[in-house]
Amino acid sequence: MDSTPANLKSSLSVPSVQELASQRPERVPARYIRDQDGDDIIATYPFDPSLHVPFIDMAKLVNADTQQHELQKLHLACKDWGVFQLINHGIPSTSLRNMGNQVQRFFELPLQEKKRWAQRSGSLEGYGQAFVTSADQKLDWNDMIFLKCLPIQNRKSDLWPQNPPEFRETLEIYSEDIREVTISLVKFITMSLGLQDTQISESFREGLYEIRMNCYPPCPEPERVLGIVPHADNSGITLLLDCADFPGLQFLKDKKWVNVEPIEGAIVANIGQIIEVMSNGIYKAPEHRAVVNKLKGRFSIVTFCYPSPHMAIGPSDKLIGEGNAAIFKKLTHAEYFSKFFNRDLDELFIDSLRV
Ligand code: OGA
Ligand code: NI
Repeated sequence: MDSTPANLKSSLSVPSVQELASQRPERVPARYIRDQDGDDIIATYPFDPSLHVPFIDMAKLVNADTQQHELQKLHLACKDWGVFQLINHGIPSTSLRNMGNQVQRFFELPLQEKKRWAQRSGSLEGYGQAFVTSADQKLDWNDMIFLKCLPIQNRKSDLWPQNPPEFRETLEIYSEDIREVTISLVKFITMSLGLQDTQISESFREGLYEIRMNCYPPCPEPERVLGIVPHADNSGITLLLDCADFPGLQFLKDKKWVNVEPIEGAIVANIGQIIEVMSNGIYKAPEHRAVVNKLKGRFSIVTFCYPSPHMAIGPSDKLIGEGNAAIFKKLTHAEYFSKFFNRDLDELFIDSLRV
């Protein structure tokens, strides 16, 4: 194992979970086990099968006759859940299907081939694992490839797979599709907050779009590991394409874990910490995690959408006034990310943003 990285911008190298799983072990190595040593992170909150994440229909947001009613639903979804399934979002189903297929085909390549696009030291981009900072840290049951997609000048093309051959073009198209949805969805989110101006949503036109493609192989002891440890996203919003036909993603709602049932053609949208700050805490970035399955592998394609780096990250002026004090600081984009990559893992990142 190498030395500890200076900050969280890079990751120590750990084995591929896919390789581990392909050896069909009966037991999971100790580094992945989460239900021991008196800190059983899996059992902290119970699972509640009776709750369901709300649906938001983008076509109803666009249509003047149905907009008010759907905006009210959107407001409650953002306030009470921080997550919803977005339907009729306008992304062609071929773009979604192609993206899912390309990601699956990439992960099915032999390890040595995937390693052509492996993370390099000092960066999280590329194929590998995320946020491994110490040799004794518990590990997620997850392999991933993380790529900055927009703006185009941020792409590191040497980390973009050339195998399967259609991967790059498919990702280019998909990221443009996601950007269009994000700009309109953020416009409706700000409308549901009662903000009339489009400054926030327009800032996503020049925003950053970073895509993490996750692979969760089958696991011999699924109830003892996590695919991704509970966290909230540091994005503006996050748009997730679930490629499985069984649930793996869970959100924390009123201290209970709730499954997201994959719906063909839907996109799971969740509020990130930047919108939490801009909304002055009216909308919250929800905690979520991924659980894994004994028999089936799962893929997900997760786009973290950030406003333009020129946009300050602070509570919207229109939400602040008499009786409504700002609860978050106003930071530049650079200050926000510097705080994130140098954060104390024992503290909640959102708390470090409070005034
Ligand atoms: C993430 C994430 C969940 C999933 O990548 O930030 O929360 O189901 N992924 O892949
Ligand atoms: Ni996440």
